Amino acid sequence: MGSCKEQETEQEQEELMKQAKCVLVHGPIIVGAGPSGLAASACLSQQGVPSLILEKSDCIASLWQHKTYDRLKLHLPKQFCELPLLGFPEDFPKYPTRQQFISYMESYASHFSIKPKFEQAVQRAEFDHTTGLWKVETQDLVYISRWLIVATGENAEPVIPEILGIDQFNGPILHTSVYKTGSVFKNQRVLVVGCGNSGMEVSLDLCRHNAIPHMVVRNSVHVLPREMFGISTFGVAMALLKWLPLRLVDKFLLVVANFILGNTDQLGLRRPKTGPIELKNVTGKTPVLDVGALSQIRCGKIKVMDGVKEITTSGIKFMDGQEKQFDSIILATGYKSNVPTWLKANDFAKDGMPKTPFPNGWKGENGLYTVGFTRRGLLGTASDAVKIARDVADQWRTIKDWNTCDLVLCNLENHKKAKKMRKKKVGCFIG
Ligand SMILES: Cc1cc2nc3c(=O)[nH]c(=O)nc-3n(C[C@H](O)[C@H](O)[C@H](O)COP(=O)(O)OP(=O)(O)OC[C@H]3O[C@@H](n4cnc5c(N)ncnc54)[C@H](O)[C@@H]3O)c2cc1C
Ligand SMILES: NC(=O)c1ccc[n+]([C@@H]2O[C@H](COP(=O)([O-])OP(=O)(O)OC[C@H]3O[C@@H](n4cnc5c(N)ncnc54)[C@H](OP(=O)(O)O)[C@@H]3O)[C@@H](O)[C@H]2O)c1
Repeated sequence: MGSCKEQETEQEQEELMKQAKCVLVHGPIIVGAGPSGLAASACLSQQGVPSLILEKSDCIASLWQHKTYDRLKLHLPKQFCELPLLGFPEDFPKYPTRQQFISYMESYASHFSIKPKFEQAVQRAEFDHTTGLWKVETQDLVYISRWLIVATGENAEPVIPEILGIDQFNGPILHTSVYKTGSVFKNQRVLVVGCGNSGMEVSLDLCRHNAIPHMVVRNSVHVLPREMFGISTFGVAMALLKWLPLRLVDKFLLVVANFILGNTDQLGLRRPKTGPIELKNVTGKTPVLDVGALSQIRCGKIKVMDGVKEITTSGIKFMDGQEKQFDSIILATGYKSNVPTWLKANDFAKDGMPKTPFPNGWKGENGLYTVGFTRRGLLGTASDAVKIARDVADQWRTIKDWNTCDLVLCNLENHKKAKKMRKKKVGCFIG
């Protein structure tokens, strides 16, 4: 804990910044304190480059802390989910729990002394061609920097589908981002809309709490075992891809999956014509890694339903003509990026993903970078963060005269306050 004097100075600095309304950040501004933002900050710090993270929530890894269910475990072994420079503790299991992942994130942030500014929701970010700087606006302040790193995640906002009659339903309707446990649904008939990893796991959790889940499968889906002969399916795929063409690897995965899981088509889970890795690369659709839902489907405890035609006051009309009563509806309908709502730049497409495809999407124009938008989970995050830090560090070293920044400040209305703040030694901020 800091001394009273330090705390007073910090408070004073905060107050001055608020008055100045404008803060120049030496080093990149990172938007988002999830795993991607933390990884970028750590890699930059290792290169001697300071950074500032702006986070809209009140904590790091807010997706994991606030928007995930209790029984969540990583689906991939920990070596594929660790961030650069500091791995998981050795005594963690192969598939860490949600709580263990959060504790790893907390140790990571503390190890690299990362202190994000919380409750700073970025509402707009735009490059100013006159000054050559990014202007990043939150509800409180305008932050300015040469570099902007987008780390707001592929899963920033829940997807709420438009379904006919959705407003009439009498029972609760919730998205998986607010689902915690099946215990509150005991003995209820619950409709789970969607059969991705969330839909499958939530249905399984509902089963374990004696609810009666019905899962909507409107399309084809690849279900793979989490492990093949004791090795993670993901690990097997990664290893084979080093030697074999993608389509051959896909064929191999499907033969083994059919051997282990049986024919999933017979359970109402039709396989897409395209193989699982190719489909993921082309459409971003993640294969489901089975952790127990399939056996519950096989024994009839999770019922597979056709697409939803209409929601009525007390139930659902399905596409195949069936009609059933339900107590609650859970939307396991996935997530989307929120970048188009705040970033004014041409580097992102309408769906909030970088226009430049993997592996080059990490670098945009005018000092813009993106971390964690590769559709490759935490492995993609780690590789982006390392590349971004190297690229920014190369520029950082060539910028010898930081006084040029003061020239920019002359254009800002609060020049006097800026001077006052400098006198007070406001760290790396000049307002
Ligand atoms: C249920 C679930 C389980 C998952 N399990 C795995 C897994 O096992 N392995 C794996 O690799 N991936 C998994 N993922 C994918 C997951 O998205 C990544 O693991 C990881 O969280 C991505 O990190 P990120 O930092 O890019 O995004 P996020 O974790 O989403 O972090 C983004 C941060 O940005 C903040 N933010 C957003 N908008 C703004 C704004 N405008 N201003 C300021 N801050 C903002 C958010 O509050 C958030 O804290 C899972 C996803 C879900 C939903
Ligand atoms: N333990 C873990 O590691 C874990 C657990 C959960 C999630 N995750 C990850 O988190 C990310 C998000 O997963 P997710 O399962 O939440 O989302 P997702 O993979 O995007 O799946 C969304 C599902 O909802 C369906 N859907 C969307 N709109 C629908 C509608 N109107 N009617 C019927 N179905 C509809 C989709 O079907 P269509 O295919 O037909 O569009 C799909 O089945 C993924 O990367 C996933 O791997 C990981």
